[in-house]
Amino acid sequence: MKLNPSQIDTLQNQGFLVLPERFSEEEVALIQSQMPMLLDDHHPGNVIEKESGVVRTAMGLHLRNEVFAQLANHPKLIEPAFQIRPEPMYIQQVKVNVKAAFSGSIWQWHYDFATHHEEDGVPEPLALNLHIFLDDVNHYNGPLYFVPGSHRHGEHGAWLDDQTTSYPLWIVENRIVEKLIQQNGIQAATGEKGTMLIFYDTLLHGSPNNMSPWDRAIFSLILNPISNAYQKTDRPDYKHHRDLTPVIMSDPDCLSLFLHSR
Ligand code: SIN
Ligand code: MN
Repeated sequence: MKLNPSQIDTLQNQGFLVLPERFSEEEVALIQSQMPMLLDDHHPGNVIEKESGVVRTAMGLHLRNEVFAQLANHPKLIEPAFQIRPEPMYIQQVKVNVKAAFSGSIWQWHYDFATHHEEDGVPEPLALNLHIFLDDVNHYNGPLYFVPGSHRHGEHGAWLDDQTTSYPLWIVENRIVEKLIQQNGIQAATGEKGTMLIFYDTLLHGSPNNMSPWDRAIFSLILNPISNAYQKTDRPDYKHHRDLTPVIMSDPDCLSLFLHSR
């Protein structure tokens, strides 16, 4: 489940890597089967869309559900993370960004480190964001847009936008986005369910509204080196977990138990 040298090269050059067919249809169906129950929960980790009232993101999932607890330690996610950052890491965030058909709204242009640094006092942009597509993601249902190579421009300057959506986010000004896109272009991260993404903390990205009739749920695990841990605890635990226990890789079959009991 390790990355090969050319995949590592791509990640370092582009700032992101797309790994199709990483999780099986059965594994994705198992993960998806947990969602209705979690989305119905009156849990503060369920952040509701401003306009439609549907869940925008469901957070803290490894502490709320056993399948997500296993998934957060899955070798398909953790092994490449250790390859890229060979040091003890903790689980910073575990969520599903729901982006429901017709109603899921925009994630403005941003890079994650701005929020990690400003809100949580994370010193360096070393966190890794690991995604799994839980639905097929196409050009119409709100895919992530990446600006390839933008991670190499360091920090881009950011300000806190707590108006546009229900999720306050440190975002990048349009004139800086424009310059970076003129230099580097935009790439939409599309693929079938089960596709995995890895991206760096200073990579510029965002995603448009989902106007399509197709749901677009994406699982996200953020890992951060313990040596680079948060220094502020202003945000709730589900936005940046306080537990600094090193993440360990579970067995490759860790989801099988649930699959066979279905
Ligand atoms: C999205 O779910 O479209 C945005 C995810 C992210 O910013 O990491
Ligand atoms: Mn982001």
